[in-house]
Amino acid sequence: MKLDHFRLERYFAEYEFSAPFLLCSSDCESLALGELLALEPEARERFESLWLGYTESAGDPELRQAVTGLYEHIAAGQVLVHAGAEEAIFTFMNACLQPGDAVIVHSPCYQSLTEVARGIGAEVREWRGDPLQNWALDLQDLKSLLTGNTKLVVVNFPHNPTGWLPDAGFVRKLSALSERRGFLIFSDEVYRGLEHDPADRLPAFADINERAVSLGVMSKTYGLAGLRIGWLASRNRRLLEACAAFKDYTTICSSAPSEFLAALGLRHAETIAARNLKIIHDNLKLLDRFFAAHAGLFDWQRPRAGSIAFPRLQRGTVEAFCADLVEQAGVLLLPGTLYEPGSKAFRIGFGRRNLPEALARLEEYLQRQPDRL
Ligand SMILES: Cc1ncc(COP(=O)(O)O)c(C=O)c1O
Repeated sequence: MKLDHFRLERYFAEYEFSAPFLLCSSDCESLALGELLALEPEARERFESLWLGYTESAGDPELRQAVTGLYEHIAAGQVLVHAGAEEAIFTFMNACLQPGDAVIVHSPCYQSLTEVARGIGAEVREWRGDPLQNWALDLQDLKSLLTGNTKLVVVNFPHNPTGWLPDAGFVRKLSALSERRGFLIFSDEVYRGLEHDPADRLPAFADINERAVSLGVMSKTYGLAGLRIGWLASRNRRLLEACAAFKDYTTICSSAPSEFLAALGLRHAETIAARNLKIIHDNLKLLDRFFAAHAGLFDWQRPRAGSIAFPRLQRGTVEAFCADLVEQAGVLLLPGTLYEPGSKAFRIGFGRRNLPEALARLEEYLQRQPDRL
């Protein structure tokens, strides 16, 4: 399989650990090990006596049980643990697709959702959100993309990079269409739980559609990216078995300490998500104010979910803007051209505690060089 470079990861490889102010991170503020262990009285002792042998390849039973708490109709045996969402995407696509299969992918998108399918030799078509409608998808567009042999539709709600979130009616219509037309749904739900109004939480696809697969992870909503724990949840037994068989050639099983800590985190999922949503709400107030003050420079559409948004630069090129900003002010934004050529948008992240400081640097930069843009 030949894969193109993961543009966003190559960009992060250059800047993530050198730029002083990351203003485009997609994850929420992380926790220190001690904070996580403090969530339960026995946790530290249990962690220290953890056996460091191989774990079950489908995932530690305690972790799979904790994952079921995020779903309505998923049992522990319907969860397959992976090393992050990234590995789960890779195993799913490899287990599900053959060269020549027709696949439709919600776009713009996190690159592996399309690139791995392309690398396998699938024919990938894009189901594009409309930038003029806050990046909404239109089911009519999907109907016109579907062919007799469409095998898979890939969606990502809440959406990276735009933060778009449909309503539950849209999700149910999409699920009904999949049943009528016979395509599978791969639903990337890594930002689920970060709805800015909890009433907007969508049902997980694995709960409402027996053949669909939901993707979850510890990195975003729970701020525990360093654990590298993600999972597939599905009632589609055959598909999950095929993914498990493929995973024997990637990691076999996940890291025992990470599985222990992920299970601990998930038993306190609501507490951790609430902490991160508080950071998001505080940061969004600052962003609303910032973008209102610079309405002649940027187009800002406040998302309804997640920890990232995709504002548009009204003039100049976004690549030059981001490059100059990181060089002059040490603030990292992510040019939208890493998602699609010609983009005028940039990704901004607001799940981290240092956003006020990073935003102040951006403000200072704009004040210093009003003519640069
Ligand atoms: C939409 C989406 N899916 C999957 C992933 C991969 O998650 P992880 O890096 O935790 O494996 C990301 C990470 O940015 C993402 O934004």
